[in-house]
Amino acid sequence: MIEVVADAAELAQRAAARFVASVRQAIAERDRCVVLLSGGTTPRATFEQIATPAMSQQVDWSRLHLAFADERCVPATDPRSNYRLVRETLAAHVPLPEAQLHRVLTELPPREAALAYERTLRTLLGVDRPDLIFLGLGDDGHTASLFPGHAPVREQVRWVVADELQEQAIWRVTTTPPLLNAAREIVFLVSGAAKADVLHAVLEPPRDPDSLPAQVIRPVAGRLDWLVDAAAAASIGQKG
Ligand code: 6PG
Repeated sequence: MIEVVADAAELAQRAAARFVASVRQAIAERDRCVVLLSGGTTPRATFEQIATPAMSQQVDWSRLHLAFADERCVPATDPRSNYRLVRETLAAHVPLPEAQLHRVLTELPPREAALAYERTLRTLLGVDRPDLIFLGLGDDGHTASLFPGHAPVREQVRWVVADELQEQAIWRVTTTPPLLNAAREIVFLVSGAAKADVLHAVLEPPRDPDSLPAQVIRPVAGRLDWLVDAAAAASIGQKG
């Protein structure tokens, strides 16, 4: 389903409400909940919204595990760190047990960090699957750290891999389609006019995940929703 909201502020409110509803449902049905979060600019306001008392009091944090859809291979103190973002905007303000925020060990070399994070997720999930994943959309069509033309988009076995982005001189660790598409619920958060063209391209045929990795996201037995603001939605439904 595609839900269009007025602006970035409403997007954060709706995303936070969705988080609370999904977490409560998972805990009611299965006694715990595993959520994977993304970084970038868009989710910051959502995390801050979830951390407000009105929202956070609705969540049983003792039954929740937070982990990451991807991470930049930078120290946990670096402003580009997704772990730092989630800690500062969310985890530091809610009673989430420290051991239930599962970070990528970016102090390890990238490939080792990927292997270690895959072990973390396999131990956490066992035969279960993520309950909820928040994803973003890059203006080149990437999602998590699945970038156009890069091998992780085609990964079919590993849950987590490392990938070097030479143009940004950075390594990333990313979850892959087999894990992402196993989720019970995936919600893309997309905001701003700069995303209008790529959002249109991702939602319309032709399907070419190698060029537009967000198109590889198709939950096998789950629900996929798009939460987009009006500026990002400007080109949806238009031809061309
Ligand atoms: C990250 C991501 C990435 C992000 C998109 C959109 O950590 O950077 O997981 O896939 O979601 O690049 O980012 P914005 O929200 O900044 O547009």
